[in-house]
Amino acid sequence: MRADLNISDIHSLGKAQAFETLAQIARVEKKTFPAKEAFAFGEELWKKKPNTKVLYATLGPHSSVIAYAVYVRQKGVALLHKVCVVEGYRRQGVGMELMNYIRQRLQKEGCQYVQLWVDKARDAARSLYVRNGFEEREEIPDYYAPGRKGIRMVLDLGRDGP
Ligand SMILES: CC(C)(COP(=O)(O)OP(=O)(O)OC[C@H]1O[C@@H](n2cnc3c(N)ncnc32)[C@H](O)[C@@H]1OP(=O)(O)O)[C@@H](O)C(=O)NCCC(=O)NCCS
Repeated sequence: MRADLNISDIHSLGKAQAFETLAQIARVEKKTFPAKEAFAFGEELWKKKPNTKVLYATLGPHSSVIAYAVYVRQKGVALLHKVCVVEGYRRQGVGMELMNYIRQRLQKEGCQYVQLWVDKARDAARSLYVRNGFEEREEIPDYYAPGRKGIRMVLDLGRDGP
């Protein structure tokens, strides 16, 4: 792990910092995903929606956001909506660190399963999820758009300890 990598939750920030962090994440999201798949990182995520967790990673206290993730907790299941590393910081283990953080945190909170949908063509993401113990459960044709398959993956948190 990079010694200076810090992973935290936007709810640990005050209002102004949380809004600035959400704005940074929204900019990366817009660059990374097609408009239809972009998650809306609005300010209400900090104010309300306590079940929705937005995590972000920085390098040291003054860096901008280099990675983020969003999940929604529904009792024993967490739906992982997004995991994203800023392009210039990929392939350095940041995605693995973020997934480890999420897994350990959800395990501690008593969550049983993590579920997600991924585009079959996103090889990097699928590989990251498999490396973190996710299993492919279902494949739906045209899930994202005509010709783009969606794969449902599930991680059983009860199966392997941290
Ligand atoms: C998927 C993503 C989060 C991986 O982040 P990362 O920080 O580059 O990943 P890491 O460096 O921690 O790599 C961990 C594992 O992911 C997989 N992986 C990462 N990049 C990969 C690539 N370009 N091709 C194939 N596998 C890749 C590998 O299994 C890798 O393990 P390895 O290095 O031992 O081979 C990043 O590529 C990304 O943000 N992609 C765009 C957004 C996206 O597709 N998000 C998922 C859908 S919401």
